[in-house]
Amino acid sequence: MQVEPTYTIKALDRSTWTAFAALVERNSGIFGGCWCIGFHPEGGDRAAQGEVNRERKHDRVLSGTAHAALVFDGEECVGWCQFGAPDEVPRIKNRAAYEKTRTTSPDWRIACCYVGKGHRRQGVATAALAGALDLIAALGGGTVEGYPEDAGAVPAGFLFNGALSTYEKLGFARDRKIGRHGWVMTGEAEPGPARRRNDIRGVRRQDHRRAFLEIPANLD
Ligand SMILES: CC(C)(COP(=O)(O)OP(=O)(O)OC[C@H]1O[C@@H](n2cnc3c(N)ncnc32)[C@H](O)[C@@H]1OP(=O)(O)O)[C@@H](O)C(=O)NCCC(=O)NCCS
Repeated sequence: MQVEPTYTIKALDRSTWTAFAALVERNSGIFGGCWCIGFHPEGGDRAAQGEVNRERKHDRVLSGTAHAALVFDGEECVGWCQFGAPDEVPRIKNRAAYEKTRTTSPDWRIACCYVGKGHRRQGVATAALAGALDLIAALGGGTVEGYPEDAGAVPAGFLFNGALSTYEKLGFARDRKIGRHGWVMTGEAEPGPARRRNDIRGVRRQDHRRAFLEIPANLD
């Protein structure tokens, strides 16, 4: 009998830091040492690179000011979808164009999406975005924005916010274009308790492996 492999979604917090850090380290710090700090207000330290950025990220995780849905394949963290309130992750790509055309502010935004090499094109990013929406719902829900680009126009290695089609699949709508290939996508996370789930609405079954949400002890 063939058993379908599963992904588990967990929140980034002190209990999952080690697995998250292992994924970053296996992938050379992400862009030579970004450590997923680039969207936060303080940004990355380009000169000092990895160590400083690692500490900044770790401090944020310990103080609960960094949020992400992590995707686990067994014990291994294989990808993430970072999210946060706009003031937690203000440094989005095409920010000038975004601000110029902005009329409202979302409650939440999706920041960077990342899938480790060797795990791509197996639905991990899709599971991560669905997981982020579930964690946002558990944190009170609200309007959610993301800023993806078309995977047909931008190489996957530069799809920092994931692929446009992933957002559409999960119910986001196109609001406006920013930059050459970027879109402001808007969605909604209905408030509700985190729940274990064995399906991801709107995702074609052949596109992903089943994902389960592991409810973290402290979501806030
Ligand atoms: C973009 C990225 C997140 C996609 O992750 P993934 O797990 O491979 O994505 P999925 O398997 O869930 O696929 C999502 C969609 O993207 C498309 N896609 C993914 N990789 C693609 C590629 N190389 N070429 C074309 N399309 C691609 C898939 O076809 C799918 O579209 P569909 O649903 O319309 O078929 C991944 O390639 C990545 O991490 N890139 C690096 C981004 C980065 O560096 N982020 C951090 C810096 S801030």
